[in-house]
Amino acid sequence: MSEKRLPAVPISDSDRSRFAADIADAVEWLAGFGADESGGVTRLLYGKAWCAAQKALADRMAAGGLSPYYDDCGNLFGRLQGRDPDAAPLLTGSHVDTVVCGGKLDGAYGILAGMIALEFLRDKFGPPLRTIEVVSLCEEEGSRFPLTYWGSGNICGKYDIAAVPPVCDKDGVSLKEAMEAAGFGKGAYRPPRREKLAGFIELHIEQGSVLEREKLSLGIVEGIVGQRRFTVRVGGVANHAGTTPMAGRQDAMAGAAEMISWLEKGALLGGGGLVATTGKLEVLPNVANVIAGEVTFTVDVRDKDEEELDRFCGLFRRAFAEIAARRKLTVGFDEWMNAAPIRMDADMNRTMASICDAHAYAYRTMYSGAGHDAQVFQAVCPTTMLFVPSRAGVSHSPAEYSEPEHLADGIAALAEWLFLYGYKEGFR
Ligand code: GLV
Ligand code: MN
Ligand code: MN
Repeated sequence: MSEKRLPAVPISDSDRSRFAADIADAVEWLAGFGADESGGVTRLLYGKAWCAAQKALADRMAAGGLSPYYDDCGNLFGRLQGRDPDAAPLLTGSHVDTVVCGGKLDGAYGILAGMIALEFLRDKFGPPLRTIEVVSLCEEEGSRFPLTYWGSGNICGKYDIAAVPPVCDKDGVSLKEAMEAAGFGKGAYRPPRREKLAGFIELHIEQGSVLEREKLSLGIVEGIVGQRRFTVRVGGVANHAGTTPMAGRQDAMAGAAEMISWLEKGALLGGGGLVATTGKLEVLPNVANVIAGEVTFTVDVRDKDEEELDRFCGLFRRAFAEIAARRKLTVGFDEWMNAAPIRMDADMNRTMASICDAHAYAYRTMYSGAGHDAQVFQAVCPTTMLFVPSRAGVSHSPAEYSEPEHLADGIAALAEWLFLYGYKEGFR
């Protein structure tokens, strides 16, 4: 049970209406960078729209009195300087990149909400005790390169721009080349690694339907599921679709189809919360009258429990190998992502619960089935996340939407949380 108390940062009706109007405007504004024909947003790491968005955010931070600066992998920070030069800074924010044909809120909300909350606090209370920064993280989704959390990973020591992983996008451009073409990775900005952080909080849309179904305004994130991603390569023999008898074909497409349908059945059979997805598939030669010689597809597996992830990943690999052997195909696995399930900081969550009680927000605690930069930060500093409801639980889609009133409640709770940890003595 969280204790009852009055809000430390009273939010008037007019503050709340202003948050709602400001965030709705800001979200539309940022969605203009990378707006695509689907009605959604495509902002891929170091691409043209990505560069324009980071530059526009830097200008907007400067205009709002948050001193902007980049680090050398392209994370952008807006700094509100604290009075105590020795106190470790507090960070809030989210990622600026999107999936292909993504929504306007995933990532963007956490950055823009952080800017609104910080400017509100600065106007009301002046400079904080410890420095607070809002961060527009350069990459989280893994949409351009087969690699995720490049932004938070460089801050937290998971990656190092001095040893860029040798990965390429679909056009053969390497991560290093793309980074340098965007002006980063050449020592022009501060090194990304941060040794001393007081904490990180990420405000985000839920991307599921729990809060909406239960008519709640906010979700305090208890933990984030673990995630594994693989590329599976199935090799067969390309041949004529009309003259090759059905018996004895080495059809990579038919083999991949059997594997993908095994994946769905296998995950359903487990009966728990584990989810498994194939979202991407490439076929060679990809021609109507040729039996496929090679099929490459992705497997994304998530669960709260690391042992269950291990068990299922072992199971599907064995099942795919058996399918391949029976069909005289080859199969290879490249595991390119392995993020352990994590739990958020319990003290920070208790503080957030007391904030929700004080403001009378209807909330619950919950797990996140989506991956977030917060899971990378949690390894190096106390970290938490706060969710607002997503309409119909839709995300990674142009139909992604949250009510401005809910977005405003998230900003109000974030502002008070930042006030307690950033302005008050005694909080870490
Ligand atoms: C990121 O949004 C993920 O969970 O895939
Ligand atoms: Mn996402
Ligand atoms: Mn996100």
